[in-house]
Amino acid sequence: MANTQTQIQSDVVIRPLVEKDLPAADQVMRVAFGTYVGIPEPSTFFGDSDYANTRWRAHPKDTFVAEANGEIVGSAFVTWWGSFALFGPLTIRPDYWDRGLGRRLMEPVVDLFEQRGVKLAGLFTFPDSAKHLGLYQKFGFHPMCLTAVMSKEIEPVKSSLEWTRFSQHSEAEQKQCLGECREATDSIYEGLDLTHEIQSIQHQGLGDTVLLWRNSKLVGFAACHSGPGTEARSGTCYVKFGACKTSDRASEDFQILLAACQEFAVSVGQPRLMAGVNTARREAYYQMQRSGFRTEFLGIAMHRPSEPGWSRPGDYVIDDWR
Ligand SMILES: CC(C)(COP(=O)(O)OP(=O)(O)OC[C@H]1O[C@@H](n2cnc3c(N)ncnc32)[C@H](O)[C@@H]1OP(=O)(O)O)[C@@H](O)C(=O)NCCC(=O)NCCS
Repeated sequence: MANTQTQIQSDVVIRPLVEKDLPAADQVMRVAFGTYVGIPEPSTFFGDSDYANTRWRAHPKDTFVAEANGEIVGSAFVTWWGSFALFGPLTIRPDYWDRGLGRRLMEPVVDLFEQRGVKLAGLFTFPDSAKHLGLYQKFGFHPMCLTAVMSKEIEPVKSSLEWTRFSQHSEAEQKQCLGECREATDSIYEGLDLTHEIQSIQHQGLGDTVLLWRNSKLVGFAACHSGPGTEARSGTCYVKFGACKTSDRASEDFQILLAACQEFAVSVGQPRLMAGVNTARREAYYQMQRSGFRTEFLGIAMHRPSEPGWSRPGDYVIDDWR
């Protein structure tokens, strides 16, 4: 067994993902998750949503593949949010599981974290899998609190909420909006910066960013994917990241942000809103429940190093790190 494993490992090359690898990497990702959760047709996992293409296009230099005999058998993605690195997904083709390839794909990723000096890295994984927790712990990730991925069927609503879409602003205004978004996230966690995510959503046409205002000052925002070919899927608007600036009125603002996201979802013809929250953000979690969100599934957040980041009571942030 040891010899076979050594042989397989030496036959596998770990290298950056290039565009022509995307169809195979996408397929491996679906089959790996579909097989792990045990659905009858593993390749249909994720339906018409997309992770491989959209994440690679956002950060084309920082995705790695494992290649064996000219075939892609695994991949690992990284997303940068300023001082924070979001890791995942990591997937290996099932016929290569338990042969050390997941571990090998983690190596260039943690090297990147070190080179870039990220303050915090995080991932979302299966809370009941000793293998997943064990693998990531080897690379310095620590299991923290559960993350609830929630959704809500929405009704058409009409209100006078003060929100705008990022895309409706002029280029000069967008620059200013990005500065205000950065100020909001920095008030929550030093260096947290969603600029690239917001711009990537716009450039790739994945959705839009809801901007919430009070007295012409930005108090919150939500970067949303919408429909097929995004991380949302048909019929769904997905809040990839949402946050309210730290203030005495953050709870009130958060309630309005949830409502604004629903208005946005209705305006783009999506009947369902999906949003995840780490349960350590107690107030935000309970507030979402009270607003009619129901948990669809749970994951666990793992942090490197083991510090809470913005998953603390009083943090009004939506994200799930899938
Ligand atoms: C999770 C996944 C990427 C792991 O890839 P892999 O190539 O099978 O993993 P590896 O063989 O490199 O490493 C698995 C590690 O888990 C460890 N592990 C396994 N069972 C364990 C247990 N019960 N307790 C602790 N650690 C355990 C192994 O020890 C191994 O590390 P080692 O070889 O240093 O001992 C792969 O199984 C996969 O694609 N799964 C489906 C998709 C998925 O779940 N992706 C991750 C989403 S967060």
